[in-house]
Amino acid sequence: MNSNQLRHEFTHYFEGKGHLARPSISLVPQDPTLLFTSAGMVPMKAYFLGQEEPPCRRMVTIQKCFRTTDIDNVGRTPRHLTFLEMLGNFSVGDYFKEDAIVFAWEFLTRTLGLPPNRMWVTVFREDDEAERIWAEKIGVTRSRIVRLGEADNFWGPVGTTGVGPCGPCSEIHFDLGPELGAEARPGDESDRLMEVWNLVFMEFNKEADGRLVSLAQKNIDTGMGLERLATVTQGVNSIFLSDLFRPLTDAILELAKRAENIPAGQRELALRVIADHLRATAFLVADGVVPSNEGRGYVLRRVIRRAYRHGRRLGLKGPFLHRLLPEVQGCMGSAYPELAERGEYIRRIVQMEEQRFQATLEGGLETLESLLVDLMAKHRIHMPGEAAFRLYDTFGFPLELTEEIAAEAGLTVEREGFQREMNAQQERGRAAMKKVGMAASPYTALLEEKGKSVFTGYESTESSSTLLALFHLGREVSSLATGEEGEAFLAETPFYAEKGGQVGDQGKLLWEEGKAEVLDTQTPLEGIILHRLRVVEGTMNVGQVVNAQLDLARRLAIDRAHTATHLLHQALRELLGPQTAQAGSLVEPDRLRFDYNHFCGLEEREIRMLESRVNELIRLDQSVSTAEMGMEEAKRSGAIALFGEKYGEGVRVVQTGKSRELCGGTHAQRTGQLGFFSITQETGVGSNLRRIDALTGAGAVELAQGQRDILEQAALMIHTPSRLMLQKLSKLLQEKEEERKKMLALRDRYLRQLASSLVTRKREEPVRHLVARVDGLDIEAMTILSDSLLESLEKGLVVLGSIFEEKPLLLVRVSADLVSAGYHAGQLAKELGKVLEGSGGGRPEMGRAGGKPGAPIGAALEKARELVATDSRP
Ligand code: SER
Repeated sequence: MNSNQLRHEFTHYFEGKGHLARPSISLVPQDPTLLFTSAGMVPMKAYFLGQEEPPCRRMVTIQKCFRTTDIDNVGRTPRHLTFLEMLGNFSVGDYFKEDAIVFAWEFLTRTLGLPPNRMWVTVFREDDEAERIWAEKIGVTRSRIVRLGEADNFWGPVGTTGVGPCGPCSEIHFDLGPELGAEARPGDESDRLMEVWNLVFMEFNKEADGRLVSLAQKNIDTGMGLERLATVTQGVNSIFLSDLFRPLTDAILELAKRAENIPAGQRELALRVIADHLRATAFLVADGVVPSNEGRGYVLRRVIRRAYRHGRRLGLKGPFLHRLLPEVQGCMGSAYPELAERGEYIRRIVQMEEQRFQATLEGGLETLESLLVDLMAKHRIHMPGEAAFRLYDTFGFPLELTEEIAAEAGLTVEREGFQREMNAQQERGRAAMKKVGMAASPYTALLEEKGKSVFTGYESTESSSTLLALFHLGREVSSLATGEEGEAFLAETPFYAEKGGQVGDQGKLLWEEGKAEVLDTQTPLEGIILHRLRVVEGTMNVGQVVNAQLDLARRLAIDRAHTATHLLHQALRELLGPQTAQAGSLVEPDRLRFDYNHFCGLEEREIRMLESRVNELIRLDQSVSTAEMGMEEAKRSGAIALFGEKYGEGVRVVQTGKSRELCGGTHAQRTGQLGFFSITQETGVGSNLRRIDALTGAGAVELAQGQRDILEQAALMIHTPSRLMLQKLSKLLQEKEEERKKMLALRDRYLRQLASSLVTRKREEPVRHLVARVDGLDIEAMTILSDSLLESLEKGLVVLGSIFEEKPLLLVRVSADLVSAGYHAGQLAKELGKVLEGSGGGRPEMGRAGGKPGAPIGAALEKARELVATDSRP
């Protein structure tokens, strides 16, 4: 049965049992605790926990999964993968153990007709109930039922947080037959048994303290790798021989003609790694991951580079992975149309990463290999972590790649040393970024004592509040006098502290007989809003009531820029696809900067389209609304969250039109308030990282006005109305070119005449030569002149001197026969340069010298005559 039929049969079988078929979610999950969708149950988590209501209590999915837990085994066994399709049936508080087991058995043995005597099953050590069902209800002989511990038969929680739904599980293994080794039981290390299906009885939630708490409802989560199922139903003994891989591995071998000479074991390993990693790459990129140095991008980079390196082992030189993508599409495209839809995008990303790696690989490999030789000569078994870090830092070698290459030479890498260097580098980065006088330490006590500041600035622009604390040069003080600078902490404030790219507010704090100017607002510690200020009148005392007033005009301009950022984000996703991820932003009064992941720069046309689209959204004048909601609800509503950003349980969603983002910033009330939006530039700021700078509101209008001013002034200068400026300019340029040509013709005529009058002054002794002063000629004219002179002299030596734009210049030319006789223009020029208090030099045929303004050109020419006449060839 081919894999398309298997997908169909699986869904069909469970639909027949009342399950709702749901589509696969992206490999980049909405769940901020997970880097990747690593199991079929990821989209079910909230249902299992009872946080959300499922669309149906029984569901069936074929989920794209990516996990790196087994990456080191990929290629070394016939069954491990990073990317896989997981067939799963789920029950949310509906059926439990017995039905899950009955369904699984029936599907494998009846629907697919797999022989029961090739199966083994496992149950959790303490799970008598599961064992009883297998033995009594299904009729599996007890000798084929194996009890195993937590490591094998307790699944979850998913991810690395250690909290979430989990439970004991029961696995079904298939015996691939004696070709793959001696008789084996589940739990043995053997390639002969292939675990096919994992049935998880999700009845617990693991809490942060490690306790297992029973869930209100019992759930079922099963997962069966499609690749493994295809292997056993197609009667092959390795995943890589199934129809999901065969065309791909054939194509790799086809490319790697030299692979035949490589030992079979090594060839097989490389083939499998390339095949698996290439599938993973295609799907990750299709879901919006781009290679980078952190987070998901780093994992992807590792995977691509690993595959690339295995290609080299097959004798593949240079980028090749992108050429195999059509094969991945061929195997998987019918089930995953995104591969074709984003085909060109995926190809470019992969090719660019390969090229980037190719460039660094050669240098890095050389360094690494010589280091390894050195270490082996010294009989070392560890490679210092610092060396691995240098490779990472200089050549972009992922630690795992270095480890892998080192392992081939029998060495391990000292991870601690690597981590130490990495931490030190990050620390340096952090230290550089820390704001002076805004260190966190004195504020921790403040937070404990006084609690959090209340931010009132979403609704109001002014509020009265008690001054709870003052700081001066990082130390707590009780008052600040006129002229002093410091930081103030209020019980409540409308001032927005810099966060999420939005800059801090400015304004005034007023009290009876006193006033302070707020220069900036910062959050040195979550929950604390600090006003950095200068007292301009009176004395500020802790305990007094102050009236905090925002600089409203500035804040409104910030609001406009923030809303513009959301509109730009929306327009970018419309233009480039939903994989486009925001990578950072800066929101200032009427000015914004937006960083995003994309593999190449935008074309002029695309920039214009973006700008127009944002302006269109502005003209729609849609209202901007905000809502507080739970994280789950926000995710369901499709709000975009930034990965890596920490969000609490309660989040704020900012919505306008189709744009929905998790955002704590302040915004315009309607898009129309933005007025106008203008992109000033689009640049690259890192690998796959682009930046858009833009203006909105008054900033954009001022820019347009400034540009019009320039245009009008320019038009005035060339005496033409601005609308005719381009024609006029091109006419002027044309005229200028014509004049230049005329001028050059005139110059050349003059130079020829000059040559014929100068040539009469030639001397014949001791060799034919001519020394002349030709003030006003630049070096180019002197060269042309010397060409004519040499031509008329037929052979000889020419020295020309000129004062051009106040500076003395000398040119020396020597004809070929005099060069053979030992004359050297460059050396002569060098001598003469000394007379000019400057420098000189050049080739035997032509030398030049120059000097400071006022240097004696006459004396230099005199010296030239003397040197030639006395034939003291310099
Ligand atoms: N969650 C389990 C697994 O990933 C079963 O679906 O293996």
